[in-house]
Amino acid sequence: MPLTRKAYRAAILHSLADPAEVGIEASYEYFEDGLLVIENGRISALGHAGDLLPRLPADIDITHYQDALITPGLIDTHIHLPQTGMVGAYGEQLLDWLNTYTFPCESQFADKAHAEEVADVFIKELLRNGTTTALVFGSVHPQSVNAFFEAAEKLDLRMIAGKVMMDRNAPDYLTDTAESSYQQSKALIERWHGKGRLHYAVTPRFAPTSTPEQLALAGQLLGEYPDLYMQTHISENKQEIEWVKALFPERDGYLDVYDHYKLLGERSVFAHGVHLCDEECARLAETGSAVAFCPTSNLFLGSGLFNLPMAEKHKLNVGLGTDIGGGTSFSLLQTLNEAYKVMQLQGARLSPFKSLYLATLGGARALRLEDRIGTLQPGTDADFIVLDYNATPLLSYRLKQANNIAETLFVLMTLGDDRTVLQTYAAGNRVHQR
Ligand code: GUN
Ligand code: ZN
Repeated sequence: MPLTRKAYRAAILHSLADPAEVGIEASYEYFEDGLLVIENGRISALGHAGDLLPRLPADIDITHYQDALITPGLIDTHIHLPQTGMVGAYGEQLLDWLNTYTFPCESQFADKAHAEEVADVFIKELLRNGTTTALVFGSVHPQSVNAFFEAAEKLDLRMIAGKVMMDRNAPDYLTDTAESSYQQSKALIERWHGKGRLHYAVTPRFAPTSTPEQLALAGQLLGEYPDLYMQTHISENKQEIEWVKALFPERDGYLDVYDHYKLLGERSVFAHGVHLCDEECARLAETGSAVAFCPTSNLFLGSGLFNLPMAEKHKLNVGLGTDIGGGTSFSLLQTLNEAYKVMQLQGARLSPFKSLYLATLGGARALRLEDRIGTLQPGTDADFIVLDYNATPLLSYRLKQANNIAETLFVLMTLGDDRTVLQTYAAGNRVHQR
């Protein structure tokens, strides 16, 4: 195969570590005039343009972005494909919201053509927003996952998804059975898990919509294949938590239900965790599990405020999730804008470098993919984005007043959204151009 080598020149920023562990200064690397060199879909060099340029062949193809910042592609650790068409549904909190809006909307995925149409819209929306990897809930229908993976494969994206397993407490038109969910998940795993940059996630929706038999089979699947993911919801809403206690009186709380069925582990991601207690955070951390912090959703559905400092205290892996359609934006920049406010309401601060970490390396660590994505380290996948300082008149004006990269980054996260993402690259290929 001929060597394809390209270089991108701009301001470049990426995370090196969690600021909570190493302090802010040691947590990132910034090149005011940086160069990122890509070879065959991977990053081959990163540094100051002045250092790297003399070492490169004179005829190398260089794209120079002025007034722009290159960062790693953003990572969404919790999102629902079949809820694309119901973002911004009025008036309800979690359980009524599911019954009133979510289940009817997801039922449309019984139609394969609908699944394919939405998968296309969904992937375009991820890329328009600079999201290059997502951990995705399908609907209960296997074709929702097939449609998603087929579209992701065409663009060589690194994506993780799974068919929802739900065999009770939902309308008949939207339930599977313990056995059918096991067989359907297995067929999807055989077809997609490890194909190119795709991975499968075993996806019991949440404890209330699965029988003990189904949860046991989900745990069994995790034991049958290496490196499978597990995604579900936990402790999002107070009524939900009471319901779980009533459904599983023999268990010692919500997390213990999942623990009992062997669903905790290094590739397990639990969405929300707004009302987790200290012991539950400790148990999640001990098992290497991760939590997806979904601030726009937690505010929109009135679920509560995620306690990030408590997660940090336990060294629990945390990623960021949009939770479309409980969340209100595909943009992880807008998600960080709301994350900052969630911290403010608890008297805590979210530094721009912690935010950058959550949306990139933190997400990669939650997914155990930090050797492939989440930074711009040489050897990793060339998944990166170009953010435009002049995306809107206000952003342009405001950034002229910024004195350093910390201020610039914070303003990008506060005012930025899909308009800010000029280009998105995946495996070295441009997959979105504004
Ligand atoms: N809990 C169970 N299902 C869902 C869902 O679709 N969205 C959210 N936010 N929480 C859930
Ligand atoms: Zn969700």
